[in-house]
Amino acid sequence: MEVAEEIQVSEGQIAVHWREEEYFYPPATFISQANAADPAIFERFSEEHFPECFKEYADLLDWDAYWHTTLDTSNPPFWKWFVGGRLNACFNCVDRHLATSHDKAAFIWVPEPEDQETKAITYQELYRRVNEFAALLRDFGGVKAGDRVTFHLPMVPELPVAMLACARLGVIHSEVFGGFSGAACGGRIADSESRILVTMDSYYREGKLLDHKVKADEALAVAHDRGFDVEKVLVWRRHPGQYSSETPMVDGRDFFVDELMDDYREKLVEPVSMPAEAPLFLMYTSGTTGQPKGCQHSTGGYLSYVAGTSKYYQDIHPEDTYWCFADIGWITGHSYIVYGPLALGTTSVMYEGVPTYPDPGRPWRIAERLGVNIFHTAPTTIRMLRKVGPDEPAKYDYRFKHMTTVGEPIEPDVWRWYHEAVGKGEAVIVDTWWQTENGGFLGSTLPALQPMKPGSCGPGVLGIYPVIYDEQGEVVEAGSGRAGNICIRNPWPGIFQGIWGQDERFVQTYYEKYCRNKESKDWRDWPYFAGDGAVQAADGYFRILGRVDDVINVAGHRLGTKELESATITVDEIAEAAAVPVIDEIRGRAVEMYVALKPGVDANSDIEQKVQKAIETEIGKIARPKNVWIVPDMPKTRSGKIMRRVIAGISNFADVGDITTLANPEIVDEIREHVQSEKVARGETPRELSPEEMEEIKAFGRAE
Ligand code: WT7
Repeated sequence: MEVAEEIQVSEGQIAVHWREEEYFYPPATFISQANAADPAIFERFSEEHFPECFKEYADLLDWDAYWHTTLDTSNPPFWKWFVGGRLNACFNCVDRHLATSHDKAAFIWVPEPEDQETKAITYQELYRRVNEFAALLRDFGGVKAGDRVTFHLPMVPELPVAMLACARLGVIHSEVFGGFSGAACGGRIADSESRILVTMDSYYREGKLLDHKVKADEALAVAHDRGFDVEKVLVWRRHPGQYSSETPMVDGRDFFVDELMDDYREKLVEPVSMPAEAPLFLMYTSGTTGQPKGCQHSTGGYLSYVAGTSKYYQDIHPEDTYWCFADIGWITGHSYIVYGPLALGTTSVMYEGVPTYPDPGRPWRIAERLGVNIFHTAPTTIRMLRKVGPDEPAKYDYRFKHMTTVGEPIEPDVWRWYHEAVGKGEAVIVDTWWQTENGGFLGSTLPALQPMKPGSCGPGVLGIYPVIYDEQGEVVEAGSGRAGNICIRNPWPGIFQGIWGQDERFVQTYYEKYCRNKESKDWRDWPYFAGDGAVQAADGYFRILGRVDDVINVAGHRLGTKELESATITVDEIAEAAAVPVIDEIRGRAVEMYVALKPGVDANSDIEQKVQKAIETEIGKIARPKNVWIVPDMPKTRSGKIMRRVIAGISNFADVGDITTLANPEIVDEIREHVQSEKVARGETPRELSPEEMEEIKAFGRAE
């Protein structure tokens, strides 16, 4: 079935021309063991049973006190779930499994160097380590419920230990992805007012032991500049007893955790019974404007939601060996490496390093050796493994029953390779669409009950009722072939509670656009605006087209154009900067930076280096642009706005659209000439863009 859909291009409407893909069906062996195999589940989660349907998720947890109100909508859009309920997230992820599973591995940690020993951390050992670290945080760190603690930790077991220790105390943790710069960490420390930073001296990446403690010093300096001082830095050592950083420890401020720990051996800490509505953690993410926003996630709602979706969508059973190949520094890792899998008492694999180290067979060797049967990763990783080791999976004897893709749209041919080569044609695939703000999945197929369709995430998940609106707020009907803004009509337990310290920004960013009546206390008047473009096929499946705001999704990670640009203009010589996305074979999108220099400054190659360095310092290596183009002037409207879509078009060898409204249309040819001939010289001519990609480039910058 190859239905080519030709759709009219109209003003304010993204045109979509795409090919319908064929369904793939789950194998009988999967269906026979699936947690959700009875279609009656759809009825239980139908709109008529909302919000009580989510009791089914909350009942997966142990509550100290049961709730009296499932959903409180008295202060929209600050929804409250399971009000009156009390629980402890750490107790639910650790203590309650001890009776049946104390000797079972909670985590299996695989260090990057292959000659270092893989470590299994049993539930019993996790319990001991979490208690000890909680005692240290409380008694040495002086923190209590409601305080914030920032972590800047790599993929080591100390990270989930620290998260669970905070959760035990009711302390709000805020993990900053280890690959982010010290400055990025410092901004988040100041924003959350964390008096304690937990870090590690070093970790392995691509075969090298990287100095990581150096970033803590930078972070504290940046936080200080923002008026906030950290009191204590707790430093784990990647090799206990052996310090692997160049930076000195600051007396009275920096402490080695392995040394302090001597005082906390075998200490036990009572889990603090927290209200369901107490914040569990903050996770910062990029938006259209300003600093990253601290998404605040709740204890009861969040944990219920990740437990429920892990059970039904990840199909996790306690006896599975589940490997989510993401970093815990992102929401995927919080929800689907730590909280979801542990709430269900399963074994969760953690890997320290890069997928292709020391060779592209590494992931499959790990899967074979550990008996992994559920595998979860991002399209970026899949594309890379396909490129460098297309035949590797076949060389290893593992069997996945289930695989996930998350974080960016997946091209149907990449999906098919994942299915055939990685899944050996035997695994179901779920393409899970969601965001940092959401706690857990929003769009996916239910693996035993709904067929897969490459390139589409599927319908809304259980209890989630999505809709596509056009700019005027009219519903875009399924099967119309038209794209629009995907929204969720209802609240759900995993939704974030707000942006830390910025209530107005929260309401404005996510609810203002389609709110029907600001006085209304009915959730039906408050659709959640996700910021993604999407189309819905006649079968109800959504195809996510990507961000409609100026956020660039690089390798599944969100980068705000404004953040990139403000980092760039820290370079003295630069007057103006504009960041645009380019289609990238591996990372999905990469960033290209256009800069205009201050009068009297000569263009030279140092500037490119300085921009790279500035971005690395302010944000982190992951944000480094693919190219930096020095231009005589930016294409601008008569009112002085930079037309990002024009340079985005040039970078992608695509149509730049109408330029008659520019104040300086002549500049376009000049920039195109320079950039495209240089790209050709560098061997960077892109493949032909798909219609969706073309539309994305054309629309870039329209959020302004
Ligand atoms: C953005 C959220 C929580 C997932 C990890 C990324 C894009 C996410 C998909 C998918 C197409 C996807 C969206 C979304 N996205 N999953 N399955 N298919 N696009 O979390 O950093 O908050 O990014 O990632 O554009 O808005 P995030």
